[in-house]
Amino acid sequence: MSSDLGSPGATTERLLVRQARWIAQDVVELRLTRPTGGALPSWEPGAHVELTLPSGLRRPYSLCGDVTDTEAWTVAVHRVPEGRGGSREIHETALVGRELEVRGPVNRFSLVSAPGYLLLAGGIGVTPLLPIARELTARGLPWRLVLGARDRSRLVYAEELVELGGDRVRLLPQDEAGLPDLAAELAATPPTYAVYACGPQPMLDAVTALCRTAAPARSLHLERFTAGDDTSSVQLDASSGEFEVVLSRSGLRLTVPADRSVLDVVREKLPDVPYSCEEGYCGTCETPVTAGFPDHRDTVIEPSERPTATTMMICVSRCDSPVLELDL
Ligand code: FES
Repeated sequence: MSSDLGSPGATTERLLVRQARWIAQDVVELRLTRPTGGALPSWEPGAHVELTLPSGLRRPYSLCGDVTDTEAWTVAVHRVPEGRGGSREIHETALVGRELEVRGPVNRFSLVSAPGYLLLAGGIGVTPLLPIARELTARGLPWRLVLGARDRSRLVYAEELVELGGDRVRLLPQDEAGLPDLAAELAATPPTYAVYACGPQPMLDAVTALCRTAAPARSLHLERFTAGDDTSSVQLDASSGEFEVVLSRSGLRLTVPADRSVLDVVREKLPDVPYSCEEGYCGTCETPVTAGFPDHRDTVIEPSERPTATTMMICVSRCDSPVLELDL
């Protein structure tokens, strides 16, 4: 991971919610500008920002507007009723005319050089892929996009995509067309083409497994934090027991009970420790481990990298040894 929202380079400022509009079933788009207007920092396709909501919840969202629109940043938020509250708050609060703290932009999904691209989107996962498709079109590079959703009303940015890519865009409402045939899509894509995928975790797992089996050398890029926004397959397992955490810079020794996260406990002593999703998918809370054995439960570090990983996501990961020492 090259950077995150907690990195010193990420800027924070208060932006005005200038406009909100419905763009699909349960999806609202917010347009954020400087309160007095003026150009915002530039960003590249694939980037995301973190919003601090009026309640204090912080949530990362992909920038899905046009990179040439320097006056505004645009995000789209899918309402997840069973989520942890971030998307509900955005949908149920009158935000237009209010200012929100916005941190970023940061890009962990940036474009690599390739002779062509396959873009795979599930639901709201299309948000980082729309500016990527625009960029590829502007550069005259070959690309194809597959967008799946439960039904037509949930095909986010379908019109914009078809206008941009015509028959390079395949729209698959699940109730009419079934689930996307990811194996067929990948098989129909030259192995030198890069694959960018964003969507629900099972879709990303399937793409990863298919690429490993059929084309291990393929350039595969996954964006994990937009699937469902407030839901995650990663849950804190209260049965994993209590352990100790030592903060190496101060020598502080903290107890992490079975029903609390390392992040929760650390924040009591270090309130500025960076975090965002609290569900193990954004990478903001990635922390170097100086001793002990982490039990990785995030979706940022690939399973194959876990045995040698020297960092951990302290919002969800736990400990396989009695004590864990963190570089904090
Ligand atoms: S806060 Fe997002 S991975 Fe930990």
